[in-house]
Amino acid sequence: MIVLGINAYHANSSAAVVSDGRLIAAVEEERLNRVKYAAGLPVRAIEYCLREVGAKITEVDHIAIPRNPWARLTTKLRFAARMPKFAMERARVMRRFAGIREEIAASFDVSPESLRAQFHRIEHHTAHLASAFYVSPYENAAVLSADGLGDFASSMWALGEGCKMRILGDIRFPHSLGMYYTALTQYLGFWKFGEEYKVMGLAAYGQPEFLEEFRRIVFADRPLSFRLGLDYFSHQDRGADMTWREADKTPVLGRLFSSYLEKRLGPARKTEEPLGQRHFNLAASMQAGLEEVLAAHWRSLAERTGQKSLCLAGGVAFNCVANGQIFDQSPFERVYVQPAAGDAGLAVGAAFEVAHGKLAAPRGFVMDHAAWGPGYDSNEIRNALDSHCPAQEGIRIKELPEEALVQTTARHVASGKIVGWFQGRSEWGPRALGQRSILADPRRPEMKDVLNRRIKHRETFRPFAPSILEEATHDYFEKTSPSPFMTFAYAVRPEKRSVIPAPTHVDGTARLQTVNRQANPLYWKMIRAFGDLTGVPVVVNTSFNDNEPIVCRPEEALDCFLRTQMDVLVLGNFVLEKSTSATGDEKLQGLADWTT
Ligand SMILES: [Fe+2]
Repeated sequence: MIVLGINAYHANSSAAVVSDGRLIAAVEEERLNRVKYAAGLPVRAIEYCLREVGAKITEVDHIAIPRNPWARLTTKLRFAARMPKFAMERARVMRRFAGIREEIAASFDVSPESLRAQFHRIEHHTAHLASAFYVSPYENAAVLSADGLGDFASSMWALGEGCKMRILGDIRFPHSLGMYYTALTQYLGFWKFGEEYKVMGLAAYGQPEFLEEFRRIVFADRPLSFRLGLDYFSHQDRGADMTWREADKTPVLGRLFSSYLEKRLGPARKTEEPLGQRHFNLAASMQAGLEEVLAAHWRSLAERTGQKSLCLAGGVAFNCVANGQIFDQSPFERVYVQPAAGDAGLAVGAAFEVAHGKLAAPRGFVMDHAAWGPGYDSNEIRNALDSHCPAQEGIRIKELPEEALVQTTARHVASGKIVGWFQGRSEWGPRALGQRSILADPRRPEMKDVLNRRIKHRETFRPFAPSILEEATHDYFEKTSPSPFMTFAYAVRPEKRSVIPAPTHVDGTARLQTVNRQANPLYWKMIRAFGDLTGVPVVVNTSFNDNEPIVCRPEEALDCFLRTQMDVLVLGNFVLEKSTSATGDEKLQGLADWTT
């Protein structure tokens, strides 16, 4: 039985395919069409999923769409009367959903009647909850979804029991933790779609000086409930307009904060205005306000469900700083966050909700790694080398067996080189997790600046993240709960902060990836080789891209390698090395003795 999940007509469009209760493939459209946050119908993602499962579109049994126009209809109609423009925009999107069968058929050049699939509309947050619970390792768990807005709710929670989830409650528009975070992100001068994580990084530089005011902006009003101080926001009157800017092909969200917020907290920061301590303190206050509300919610949810395991989904589940607090602030002992916790993950959630919730298929699948996207064999890599990397002076290419490959990679990283690491199937979700990563030496304090100057060109306040052997987590971090998808930030042990300065944030934390030997064997071997060489089983891991979606195909990896100042590219079993690397001018000489 083949179930295809499709997240369409919204930023982060994606597709996933489940066959007989097991995930076969999942990918965001942006990786394939190279348009960041791509919306619309994810035709290439669907094509890829069908290739992996070996079926034609006409052979799919069920198609799951994570949007239900009938959900919370009364609330929708009440607000439609107040916000006609917003309602018209929603109606336009709904019309597209109504024609999705025809659009899929047209995209695959078949007639709508030839699609034998039964179509299912899965409510937005039900799909989020399913995306976390049904692929988690837990038989029973509390499940929580929190985001900006979906089907007119911003949060929902449930008790997951085997093949069923019992929905226990929700929070409806206009109250929303996602909108709270986005509104304040805009207020701090970050207007681009998806910049909330930057403000989360900024918060570490400040003190929650304005927390009292923020407790009026967002607050828990009773157990399992939260509210926004609506005077501080404008979306309850105007809606939350999302438009598509054709110039740079990015989604744009209209202003969400009100002039009252500026009256209370001072004028909003202009994007070009330098960041100062006041901005850091505002970001810290915003983060603290979110954490207080979430902590109250986690505690109430644990009490209500009696569970020790928690599954999280929705954009708020990417707040790794808040997630790192769960073990201190609630009785939960185990937490699972799926790698595509945001809206891309809806494709997986909708498909599993159909498989288990609707069709009662037994559970037997755990998502313990993120490698669900396209992979390329050595012939395809060789062809890419022939077409994209013609013999040229200054690049040496070697093909190595696995053991030599991991040893060579570890030696390059330990000697201060910046190494592109392209292996296996690409990651599902926004984080590079050892399939499409750029690696660097965590022991070198200057490595953050070197990565920024030579490749990433990011804001200097943003931290880089470490990948660590799972079994070494206790030696470096004060918490040891697995974080395989970089969705938790833990405090680095004080005595280790000078050992791994490059990925340690200014507040002494790091957004770590714990690497499990069974789930990610090649990456694990490479980090172990680095540990054997240096005594430090940790590498800096940042996404393999340069102001673009993360690379997917070998050709894109080669282009990025050739146009940036990356020193080495490990592409499958091939190692490409630039002999004219730029390491010499960047304080990296004299550090050979770091390598023992
Ligand atoms: Fe969502």
